[in-house]
This record gives sequence, structure tokens and C-alpha cells, in this order.
Amino acid sequence: MITKEVLKEFEQSFKAHQKEAKTVEKIEELRIRYLGRKHGLLQKLYSEIPKLTNDQKKEFVPVLNSLKELITNSFELKNSHLKESRPKPLNSELYEIDPTIPGLKPNIGHSHPTLKIIKEIKEIFAYLGFDWTDGPEVEFDSYNFQKLRLHKDHPARDTQQTYYINDEVLLRTQTSSMQIRYMENHKPPIRMLFPGRVYRREQLDATHLPAFYQIEGLLVSEAAKMTDLIGTLDYFVKKMFGEKTKVRFYGHHFPYTEPSIEVEVLYKNGKWLEILGAGMIHPEVLKNCNIDPKKYRGWAFGMGPERIAMLKYGIEDIRLFYSNDRRFLDQF
Ligand code: DAH
Repeated sequence: MITKEVLKEFEQSFKAHQKEAKTVEKIEELRIRYLGRKHGLLQKLYSEIPKLTNDQKKEFVPVLNSLKELITNSFELKNSHLKESRPKPLNSELYEIDPTIPGLKPNIGHSHPTLKIIKEIKEIFAYLGFDWTDGPEVEFDSYNFQKLRLHKDHPARDTQQTYYINDEVLLRTQTSSMQIRYMENHKPPIRMLFPGRVYRREQLDATHLPAFYQIEGLLVSEAAKMTDLIGTLDYFVKKMFGEKTKVRFYGHHFPYTEPSIEVEVLYKNGKWLEILGAGMIHPEVLKNCNIDPKKYRGWAFGMGPERIAMLKYGIEDIRLFYSNDRRFLDQF
């Protein structure tokens, strides 16, 4: 029951406790004891108000309110006092130091899984003597399509629905554009990777994104051979997915390679999944870049690092890569 004496006593006992509480932890304990929302002592007093007569309410409620203010303020004061006094000597009586408590672990950032896979792919090919460079995402139609033998009315353009900026300029739909750019400006021998983002007018779903990454590989030399290409890709797949991975190669068609192949990997669910396209560079493409196809041959390949990551880590939905969801990102 609330009486004058009870309130007086309450105030005195709070002050006595307050004097004793000298560490941050003890103060927090005290705060919870007095101000705790459910079981705090102050709350207990408040819960008795309905039992009071109107006269008693008039008398005690203001006292109780000012008690609450006093207690709340005193915690704020004490806390700020403690904060200000942080740099005091270690033996200050305000501190109780336990050197065995583990330190706080800082939150360290890390690379995005797509970039990690790109790095891994670069490292595998670097071992085979490949270098890399990047190029523009806003590209000429001629580099993205025409010089790769995808002329304006070529039916294969249908599969690569394109964001055009105007008749001649577009957002590149494939990193193959970099083959042309690079061969125009460099003499063989060439051994390069071109990682970068490409854009397609795709409906967003679990396996399609309107913007995603590709890595293009390009090798031009006097002795480039289809068997080297196959051997290189086999080596790559085994380094990436493990020595025991089952790989298969089969004929395909790309306008810029002849012959063309696709590479499939046996996934854990027993299905073969396509991971990249490749082939011997078409002599006309070499000619378009002022490289003599009688003297030089080349091969090229293109793959999607997000797809490689999905396969490697068993990720079912490509949209996760762009979700910024820490529960996903922190696993890599
Ligand atoms: N550009 C193809 C694509 O976007 C991938 C590709 C296939 C690249 C064959 C190549 C290649 O260099 O030879 O699907």
C-alpha cells in the first residue's frame, strides 16, 4: 500500500543503492531493478494506484511522478559521467576490469560471391598464362554484333534481346565484344580474359537477370588448336568443381566460332548443365580485326560466373546475388 512513509523509504533506499553502484554493469542492474517495465520497483508502485482513494491519488501520484523523474535522470547523469570518465586510469574505482572477457569482434566486410568466383576463374587461367582487362558496357553495335558475324538481320540476335541506346549504340549483351576490341589493338600471341557485366532484356526469374556477369576468354596464336581448347576447358572445370567432375563437350553453333561447342557438367541431381560456350574463332572474325587468318588461329569461350557459382555452391535462385541479403552473402 502506498503511504507517505513507503515513498520516503523508497527514495532513501534508491539513493543508498545508487551510491553503491559503481560499475556500468551494476548501474544497469539497478536501472532494471527500479525502472524495468514489467517487474521494476517503480512499476510495482504505479500498479497500486488504482487501489487508492481519489484524495490519496491527488497526494501521492505527483510524488511518485517526481520520484520517477529523479530516478530516470540520475541514471542518465551517471551514465554520461561514466562515459566521460572513460580515459581515467585503469585502477579508477569506476572500473572493474575482467581481462579474460573476449574482445568485441569487428564486423569485417568481404567480397561479393560473384566477384569471388571471378577472382577464382582468373586465378585458374592466370596459371595458364592468361591476363585480363575490362572494357565498356555501353558498346557499338558493330563490336557487339556485326564484327562477330551477327549482322543486322541475323536471326541469332533474337535470342539476345538488346537494350539499344540508338541504332549504333547499345548495352553490350555479351563480353564477346571485347574479342573484337582487343584483337583490333593487339598483335598475337594473345591470351586474355575479359570479365564484365552484360545486359539483356530478360524477364527476371530464378535463372535470368537483366544484368549479369560474363567472362570471355580469348587465345590467338599461330598454333591454336581445338584440342587445346578442349583440354584447357576440361582443366578449368576440374580446377573449379573438383578433379572428379564429369564434363562433356558437344557441337553447337555460334556465328563467331567454327566449329562451336558447348560444355556441360554433371550436376549432383544427375542432370547435365551447360556452363559455357566456346569454339575456334571464325576466320572472318579474325579478318574483321585485321588479323591474317592464314597465319593465325584462335579460340574463345564465354561463361557466366553467377551460373558457375550457382553450380558450385548449389544456389537455386540467381536473384539472391542481387538481394543484398546478409544471410546469403555472409555464407561466402
Ligand atoms: N557469347 C556467348 C553468350 O553470350 C558465349 C560464347 C560462346 C562466347 C562461344 C564465346 C564463344 O567466346 O566462342 O552466350
